[in-house]
Amino acid sequence: MKITRGDADQTLLKAALGALAGPAIVLDAELRVVAATSAAEALLGGALPLGVSAPKLLCGEAVERPMAEALAAGRAVTTTIPRPLAGGGDRVVRVRTVPLPGTSTGAGARPTGWILLLDEAWASADSADAPVLFQGMWTRDPAMKRLFRLIEKVAAGSASVLVRGETGAGKELVARAVHTLSPRGQGPFSAINCAALPPTLLESELFGHVRGAFTGAVRDSLGTFRAASGGTLFLDEVAELPLELQAKLLRAVETRTVLPVGATEVVPIDVRLVSATHRSLRAEVSAGRFRADLMYRLRVVPLFLPPLRLRPGDVTLLAERAIDELNARGGRHIERISQGARALLEGHDWPGNVRELRNVLEYAYAIGEGPILVEADLPPELLSPEAQGSELSLSANRPPPEDAALRSTRDQAEATRIRRALERAGGHRDRAARSLGLSRSTLWRRMRELGLA
Ligand SMILES: Nc1ncnc2c1ncn2[C@@H]1O[C@H](COP(=O)(O)OP(=O)(O)OP(=O)(O)O)[C@@H](O)[C@H]1O
Ligand SMILES: [Mg+2]
Repeated sequence: MKITRGDADQTLLKAALGALAGPAIVLDAELRVVAATSAAEALLGGALPLGVSAPKLLCGEAVERPMAEALAAGRAVTTTIPRPLAGGGDRVVRVRTVPLPGTSTGAGARPTGWILLLDEAWASADSADAPVLFQGMWTRDPAMKRLFRLIEKVAAGSASVLVRGETGAGKELVARAVHTLSPRGQGPFSAINCAALPPTLLESELFGHVRGAFTGAVRDSLGTFRAASGGTLFLDEVAELPLELQAKLLRAVETRTVLPVGATEVVPIDVRLVSATHRSLRAEVSAGRFRADLMYRLRVVPLFLPPLRLRPGDVTLLAERAIDELNARGGRHIERISQGARALLEGHDWPGNVRELRNVLEYAYAIGEGPILVEADLPPELLSPEAQGSELSLSANRPPPEDAALRSTRDQAEATRIRRALERAGGHRDRAARSLGLSRSTLWRRMRELGLA
């Protein structure tokens, strides 16, 4: 092929871009790939076809697509995208989208194009603590990575799985991963929370009922078991199942049939069981609250999901991923977490695990300002050690006592928050205490301890 002047210029520009920006992709206003540096192609694992839509190419059909959404909305964002690895799992590539300003200015001006700057941090993806994304779960923790491999293995079979983990640790995500990766992945995933309903309602929710079985049963109902047919039945908080229903569940599992409430004939079922609990089923059996025979049926494969405080590397990672998602919503744009705030996040016990962490970030995003998330943006329970201690009974794994420097950072941050809250409340201590989530007496005590009163 003859090399034209245009081709030569294109190659030169590509090399120049590569020299300046390393792995980078240029998009036109319609988000089509115009150029990609060779470093970008190496990073993403193959040549990038010109003219192809970048969101489709880079985000695929992923459910969470902060990058695609930000590009469509014309917003700058820093986020990450998973790239499938040849050997299974995902490699994480960090992407910063830089809009190229249009000729017109003003609020409505659309970018004329984009540069996507890719991060080379992935180069360490093979190292033991590199971040990975697995079925919606981020981690850099070795025990979690082992759990992911185990999930892949058990998903392939049909054995009943019991997920044990503290509240908010991600049990439902694990259950969904087992389902999605199983041969039943295209079938339904039907969930029922055994702690949420009184026994009579729970029975008909589980097994269904026939019309007229009880007052209010105006039509037949399928029940969760049959709704999960061909797929997976997720029994959440299974330790809370009342004993009488345990007997009925055991019969259903053993005979592979259910008897709907009010029915005279059993109905065959075809489900895979995944259960979850925050308790030790074994301890429940010893206490006489759970049937041993049912336990053995449900926990053919036990999966243990470690709490966040035992995955120290995950706190900052999950916080950053949560910030990416919040940034993509628009409004505020957090560039980074201050060192002090990071120390507080990492020093917290996280009794509510990942859910609590996400709530904390959402709080900080809402009440803080500017591009840096600082200590004062964090909610009171992270700032005051007392508020934390009072919630916790799980002190066995508490981290060692904090050092004086961290304590003084916390105290300063808390004093700032209290001062701000008092200002906002026009000096009314009741209102300030409420806005901080503290009782009036706690606020008063903390004010004295911090030299504010
Ligand atoms: N590793 C992870 N990466 C990203 N998000 C996560 C991860 N683990 C959990 N989450 C998120 O944290 C929240 C809580 O997860 P999930 O509902 O699966 O926890 P759970 O153990 O079932 O909680 P509960 O005991 O309260 O039912 C969800 O928003 C979930 O998407
Ligand atoms: Mg749950």
